[in-house]
Amino acid sequence: MLSEKLLSNLNKQINKELYSEYLYLSMATYADSVGLAGIARWFKGQAKEEHAHAMRIYDYIYDQGARVILEAIEKPKTDFNSIRELFDLSLEHEKFVTASINELMDIAREDNDHASVSFLQWFVDEQVEEEASVNAILDKFTYMKESGIGLLMLDKELAARK
Ligand code: FEO
Repeated sequence: MLSEKLLSNLNKQINKELYSEYLYLSMATYADSVGLAGIARWFKGQAKEEHAHAMRIYDYIYDQGARVILEAIEKPKTDFNSIRELFDLSLEHEKFVTASINELMDIAREDNDHASVSFLQWFVDEQVEEEASVNAILDKFTYMKESGIGLLMLDKELAARK
């Protein structure tokens, strides 16, 4: 059984994941607006993953016999100045989500809630991957100028996302 505190924070996490979906979709709109459909595709893929994260928590709350409460989703940022900025902000955002997941894990541990510790471990591991994948893309910016052939190559590479 979930403690009240953990349930409340899991519900908040659903909101954060849905906000993440919306934020990445907003980033996709910017990439599409500057004609980089491959990069937009990558962000649309991110958005879908975030939706899946929210639903994973949704299902877990019901598996535990509790109830999901949905709150309003904040308006995402819509004005961006460069593709590089999208990835910088993505990394910053993922670090924020990682801190939030760690906080959930701390609560589950304090509660001696073994099921929730096990459930949340997946998210801990996922956050390592999320940050690593954005970092790997940011590394490529070291070798290229913001506009030009490097950006087109990145667009082509990211278009291949499943
Ligand atoms: Fe659901 Fe990108 O963390």
